[in-house]
This record gives sequence, C-alpha cells and structure tokens, in this order.
Amino acid sequence: MNSKEYDFDEIIERKGSASVKWDEADRIFHTEGLLPMWVADMDFRVPDEVTAALRNRVDHGIYGYSLRSESYLAAVQRWMSARHGWEIEREWICHSPGVVTALNLIVDGFTEPGDKVLIQPPVYPPFRKSARNQARDLVTNPLVYDQGKYTMDFADLERKMSDPSVKMMILCSPHNPVGRVWTKAELSQVSQLSLKHHVLVVCDEIHGDLVFSGKKQIPFAGLSEEAASHSIICTAPSKTFNIAGLQISNIIIPDPALRRIYLDQLQRFSLNEPNALGAVAAEAAYRGGGEWLDQCLDYIKRNADYVADFLRSRIPELTMVPLEGTYLGWIDCRKLGLDKIQLQNLMLKKAKIAFNQGYTFGDEGGGFVRVNLACPRSLIKQAMGRMLQAIQNL
Ligand SMILES: Cc1ncc(COP(=O)(O)O)c(C=O)c1O
Repeated sequence: MNSKEYDFDEIIERKGSASVKWDEADRIFHTEGLLPMWVADMDFRVPDEVTAALRNRVDHGIYGYSLRSESYLAAVQRWMSARHGWEIEREWICHSPGVVTALNLIVDGFTEPGDKVLIQPPVYPPFRKSARNQARDLVTNPLVYDQGKYTMDFADLERKMSDPSVKMMILCSPHNPVGRVWTKAELSQVSQLSLKHHVLVVCDEIHGDLVFSGKKQIPFAGLSEEAASHSIICTAPSKTFNIAGLQISNIIIPDPALRRIYLDQLQRFSLNEPNALGAVAAEAAYRGGGEWLDQCLDYIKRNADYVADFLRSRIPELTMVPLEGTYLGWIDCRKLGLDKIQLQNLMLKKAKIAFNQGYTFGDEGGGFVRVNLACPRSLIKQAMGRMLQAIQNL
C-alpha cells in the first residue's frame, strides 16, 4: 500500500494547459479575472500510480487502436467489489468515452419519439439535454428541500411514473448538485416504483466513489436482482481520479437484453474502442489509487467544512447544504433576495467568481450557486473572501 502523504495544498498552474475550467471561464462568462470554481474537475495532481503508468505507456511509442484488456476489466471488477461490495461480471462492463455520451446513446436507443424521460431537478443539465437532443419529452419529479435537506417526493414520483409514456428515469446517485448520497431505503423505493410502472432506470453514479465517511454509496443494480434487471449504471474513474480529459467510463449493464441494445448503439456510432491512454490511466487508478482517494476525500471534506463554517460566521444569509457526496457544494443564497440575474452578476461581476449558477440546473435551483470544492484550500479562502466583500458592498 502507498503510504505517501499527498499535498493537496499545492497550487499547480493550470492556465495555459488547455483547461476548460481555467482557460475558458473568462470567455464563457464574458468577465476577466475570474476565480474558476465551476466545471467539475479537480485542481489536484492525479495519483502517482496513474502518472507512472501513463509514462510507461507513452514510452512504448505506438498508440494504435486499443481495447480494454482482461486486466483492465478485472481492475474494474475488483474496485467495485472492494469499494462498494458490488460483485459484477466482466461482460456487464461496457465502454463509453464519457457518461454524457452514454446518456445520449441510451435515450436514443431505449426510447422512441413520444416517450417521456423523467428527471429530478435541480439536476446536472446534460440530463435534460440528453432527452431534448433526441426530441423526447421531459417529465420532472423535483426534489424537495426542507429544513436543510433534499429528499425525493415519492408520491409525485409514482404519479409521474404511472403515465405509461414515461419509459425512462435518469437518476443521479450521488446527486449533482444537491450532494445527497441516497440511502438504501430511498433507492429501493425508486426501484419498486420503476418496476411496478415498467420504467428503465438509468443511474448516473459518476460521483459514486466520492462519498464522505458515515455515508455509503449503494450501487442501484446491487440492490436486488430485480433492480439489476431494469437498470443501466453509469460509472467512471474520471471524477474520482481527476482524469476526465482521458475520456473513459464504464457503463455497467447486468441484463443481457439491455446490454445488447447498448452495445448495438456503441457499434452504430463507432464508439466501442477506448482511448489507449485512458484505459491505462483508469486501470492504474483502480488498482493503486485507493489511498490517494481516501486522502483526497478527507481534504475535500475539510474544504466543505471550511465553507460551511465561513458562511455561518461571516455571511449568515448564505448556507451550504450538507455535503454527503460529490465535491460540489450547493449554496443557498435566496436570503439575499436577488433574482437569478442579479445573483449571477453579483458573483461574476462583483465577486469575480465563476460558480455554476443554480438556475442552470432547472428553475428549482434558482437562488443557489454550485461551488467546486476540489481545489487547494487557499483558493477556497480566496473565493470566500471575494464573496464576503461583494456581499458587504451590496
Ligand atoms: C452527474 C454527472 N454525470 C456526468 C458528468 C460528466 O461525465 P463525462 O465527462 O463522463 O461525460 C458529470 C460531470 O460533472 C456529472 O456531474
């Protein structure tokens, strides 16, 4: 086991590295000098094992068409078993360059025009887009925010699912942006309702490795055989190990008939082969990155605690929703009494921080901002200082 202590305080210059988060913020938000706390990647260097494996592969000097090797698939199986107690078969692990690509392929392959796709806003915007891209209708089952906690409205969910044209639910577990790690009881209820109403559950578990102590990620398809028979689980090493730019994810589909449809979609769009370097990085991360991840989660949790404490003591109008999983803080700014454009302008033009604005996650997110907590604490402190000053000057 690696006993190295990683230094997550280290500032690594990312400007000029063709980083979307750092090199695109000013252009996209039409503002200069922004502190980028938006796109969900980390400002941390990856585990040493990943860099070493990539170096070794690069030294080979030939990067032809590649496949996911037996040892790659074994590494994924071992990770799911060791980290989540989820035993998966090798054949269940299907490729996609990214989870968003997979969502689009899945909506296209598993629904027909006129079918409806159910989502739970406020939620990651590409869920909505993946349905709209294929001209499918959307149905929403908004999350309920009460006394500082988000929960699902199961009565509304059942009502919506009982519409026979609702064929698919895209579930975010853990949930981006509200940071919930759904309990076994909550997921079981979703499973029962979706079975009863014949709704396919597409469960996006890209943040599934990013849960904090005391919480447990339950893979949806690990709930029961019935849950496995009507679900598609989207997983990836990209958020977990900060390798999103290497474009590799694992779409886990236990049911053979569902898997056939998905694999046909991959063939159809010629997406069935991994990026050679992505597969190498992912395997190395799954095999050797556990210790790094534990330290990283500990660091992120302390960032989250810092923000929550800072807001409590210095900007009591704002509160951060308790973070159970993901590295994305969800800050309730509604007590400022600003409309969505005023809040956006306050954060962008006055505080000079690029947050993801809550309304982009659906109307239900209006009045909130999403902050990326996976960065050195000094940046978090800088952001809090800028925010305090902008709000004091209101
Ligand atoms: C819930 C969720 N799904 C998918 C993605 C992106 O996945 P990919 O880069 O694999 O397309 C993100 C990135 O923030 C996310 O939060």
